Amino acid sequence: MALLPILRYPDPRLHTKAKPVARVDHRIRKLAADMAETMYEAPGIGLAATQVNVHEQVIVIDVSEDKSKLLTLINPEILAREGECEGEEGCLSVPGVYETVKRSQKVRVRALGLDGQPFELDAEDLLAVCVQHEMDHLQGKVFVEYLSMLKQNRIKAKLAKKARITA
Ligand code: NI
Repeated sequence: MALLPILRYPDPRLHTKAKPVARVDHRIRKLAADMAETMYEAPGIGLAATQVNVHEQVIVIDVSEDKSKLLTLINPEILAREGECEGEEGCLSVPGVYETVKRSQKVRVRALGLDGQPFELDAEDLLAVCVQHEMDHLQGKVFVEYLSMLKQNRIKAKLAKKARITA
């Protein structure tokens, strides 16, 4: 396994739309394993392939406290949504920024697993939010794009300043 570099907002590559995975093979399983390692190391609760500059529809998520519930979603689709919730979100591509975003409170998702077989997942609350956040990444959307332009510009300025200090 290997740690993968994570793209930082506003890197334009974060706006790439990911393609569906054609075949769940060794390469995809290795990508998912590396993404999980990268997510745990960061540490974070979700990571989309887009964030590691691979533009295929692969997501890893683990919202458990003890890293025991790793989920890999390949080619995920939302089948149904219910309710609304608002929570503070962060993103490994937007370090140090936490903002409130409106999401569906429950989602039913269909995806392929690492075995290439389809499965359905009923997610709610934090898990549902995480699934929606990561699926947005696959569409090239970063959560800060739900915010006003003013806030987005402030965030860009803050991250640019931080990049200069750490460079
Ligand atoms: Ni994110």
